[in-house]
Amino acid sequence: MIPKSFIQDLLNRLDIVDVIERYVPLKKAGANFVACCPFHNEKSPSFTVSQSKQFYHCFGCGAHGTSIGFVMEHGGLSFVDAVEELASSAGVTVPREAPAPGQAQHKVAPDLYEVMQSTMRYYRDQLKQTPRAIDYLKRRGLSGGIAARFGIGYAPEGWQSLEAAFTNYQDTSLLETGLVIENDEGKRYDRFRDRIMFPIVNTRGQVIGFGGRVLDKGEPKYLNSPETPLFEKGRELYGLYQAQKAIRAEKMALVVEGYMDVVALAQLGVDYAVATLGTATTPFHIQKLLRLTEQVVFCFDGDSAGRRAAWRALENALPYLQDGKQLRFLFLPTEHDPDSYIREHGKEAFEHLLGEEALPLSGYLLRELSAQVDLETQEGRSALLERAKPLLTAIAAPTTALLLRKEVAALAGITQAELEGLYAIKPVGAPARRTLQKSPRNRFPGLRALLRCLLAKPELARELPVEWSVEGSGAETVAALAEYLREQDFVVSTAAIIQQFQGTPHEAVLASAEADIMQWGEEFDVAAEFHGMLAKQREEQRGQQLRVLEAKGLKGMNEQELALYRQLRQRSLPQDNVLKNRV
Ligand code: UTP
Ligand code: MN
Repeated sequence: MIPKSFIQDLLNRLDIVDVIERYVPLKKAGANFVACCPFHNEKSPSFTVSQSKQFYHCFGCGAHGTSIGFVMEHGGLSFVDAVEELASSAGVTVPREAPAPGQAQHKVAPDLYEVMQSTMRYYRDQLKQTPRAIDYLKRRGLSGGIAARFGIGYAPEGWQSLEAAFTNYQDTSLLETGLVIENDEGKRYDRFRDRIMFPIVNTRGQVIGFGGRVLDKGEPKYLNSPETPLFEKGRELYGLYQAQKAIRAEKMALVVEGYMDVVALAQLGVDYAVATLGTATTPFHIQKLLRLTEQVVFCFDGDSAGRRAAWRALENALPYLQDGKQLRFLFLPTEHDPDSYIREHGKEAFEHLLGEEALPLSGYLLRELSAQVDLETQEGRSALLERAKPLLTAIAAPTTALLLRKEVAALAGITQAELEGLYAIKPVGAPARRTLQKSPRNRFPGLRALLRCLLAKPELARELPVEWSVEGSGAETVAALAEYLREQDFVVSTAAIIQQFQGTPHEAVLASAEADIMQWGEEFDVAAEFHGMLAKQREEQRGQQLRVLEAKGLKGMNEQELALYRQLRQRSLPQDNVLKNRV
C-alpha cells in the first residue's frame, strides 16, 4: 500500500505542466495551457491544463485528472506504476506501508532488470549467428525489422550458454529471474536452450520475462519464464509496449492467444494486437486495455480451446464493463489462428472480419446462453434464467446491465421487473438512494457553485455552517467532499481531491466542477463567490426562522425566542452558528 500522504506530497512536488509536456507540447492560453487532446482525434485544442490547480480537463472528450491520472491514461499504467514512474522522475522513492498479513510484497532490485536486458541482448546476438534460427523465422514470414521491433532472439543449445553473457553465472539474480534452474545438487543450467526467444516487455519498456519456442517439434512448444519478482503473468500482455501507440491511434486493441499471432499480425500491418501469456484473460488485462482504448476485440483460435478462452474472457470482463466502451469477440474458422488467417487471406480480409464479423459482448453472451437451452420449453427458459443469473448480476455498467436484463427477460418470456425480482437484484434505472437526510433548513442555493468553490479552494470548507444539509443532484458528492476535507483538517490540494475521488461514483460530478474551474479567468475570486453564497444561505435561513417565530406571535415566544427574534430582525446571526473545524 502506498500511503495517502505520499500521494499528496508527490502531487505537490510535481508540476503537471512538466509532466504532460514530456508527452504533449502545451501552449499557454490565458490562465491555462492547451493542446490537441492526446486521448481523442481533434483539430483544434480542447485539452486544457490548469497549472495553478494541477489538473487537466478535455472539453472535447471529457478526459480529466491529475498528473498521476495522466500518466496512467497516457501510458496505460496502473495507479501504482504511474506513481512509481512519477516518483522516480521527481527523484523520490515510494514508501510502502507494511502489507496486510497474507499480502505478498515484492521488492525488485533494479539489477534484476539489467540482468534481463543483458540476456535479451545476448539472445539477439546469438540469433544473428545462427542461420538455422534465422531460417525458421523467415519460414514463418518474419522480416529482420519485425524481429528487431520485438527483440526476438535465440537461446543456444548448450546447457550453460549464459555463462558467456554474465561474469558470474552463480549470481543469485540469475536464479531470481528464472533464467537458470538449479538441480538438487546445486548445479545450474539454462532454462532456455535451443529456442526462439520472445522477450516480454512491460509498458515501461523493461524486459521482465521470456517466452521460448522450439524450432522444430518438441515439448513443450512454448516455455515461459516462471513468475518472478519482475513478472506476474496475469498482469502482463505480450506486445503491449510495442502496440500502445497503435492502440491509441486505431482506438482498438486486439487480444490474441499467441506470441506468434502478435508478431505475425504486426508483420502484416495489424500493429494493435497483444497476447495473454498462456493464461486466461484476467480482470487486470481488461482494466489495462480499457484504460487505453474504448474498444477491445478478442480474437482467439478457432478451436474449442479458443472458444473456451473467449468465454472466460467474457466472464472476467463483466464486472469491468463500462457504458460507452465496447468489447467484441471474433471467431475465426476452426482451422485458423490469427497468424495463419492473416497469412492466408491478408490484412484487408482480416480487418474486414474484425469490422463486420466480431460479435458485441451482448450478442455473444445471448447467443451462447440460448444455444445451451431449448427456449421452446418451459424447462429451457427456466434454465436460461438460471445460467444468466451470475452473468447478469456481475455487470455494473448501468446501460449495459439494463439492456441485457431486458433481452434475457424477453427470451425467457418474462418482464424486466420479474427478472429483477427473481434474481433479487436492484432494479437498474431506479433513482439512487439518498444518503443525506433531508432538512428544510440551511439549504444551499447553488450546489454546483458550492462544489466548485470547495474544490478550487478546499480550506474554505472550514467556514461552512455547523448544521447544514444539501439537496439536489450532486448532494452526495458535496457531502463526501466535506467529509474528506474534515478528515484532512482542510489542508489538501485540489489535485489531491481529484486523485482521491478518481474512480469513485463522485468522479463525474467533480469532473463538471473541474470544467467550471478551468473556465475561470486568472482574477476570478473564489473566496468572494463562496462568501456570497454563504451570505445568501444565511439570509435564507434568517427568513425561514423569522417566519416560524412570527407565526408564533410575540406573545407565544419564550425569552430565548424573543431574543433570537430581535437579533434576526437586526439582520445579524448568532455568532456560534459558524463553527470552525466542523462541517
Ligand atoms: P498455440 O499452441 O496456439 O501456439 O499457443 P501458437 O501461438 O499458434 O504458436 P505457433 O504458431 O505454433 O508458433 C498459444 C499460446 O499459448 C501459450 C503461448 O503463450 C502461446 O503463444 N503456450 C502454448 C504455452 O505457454 N506453452 C505451450 O506449450 C503452448
Ligand atoms: Mn499459430
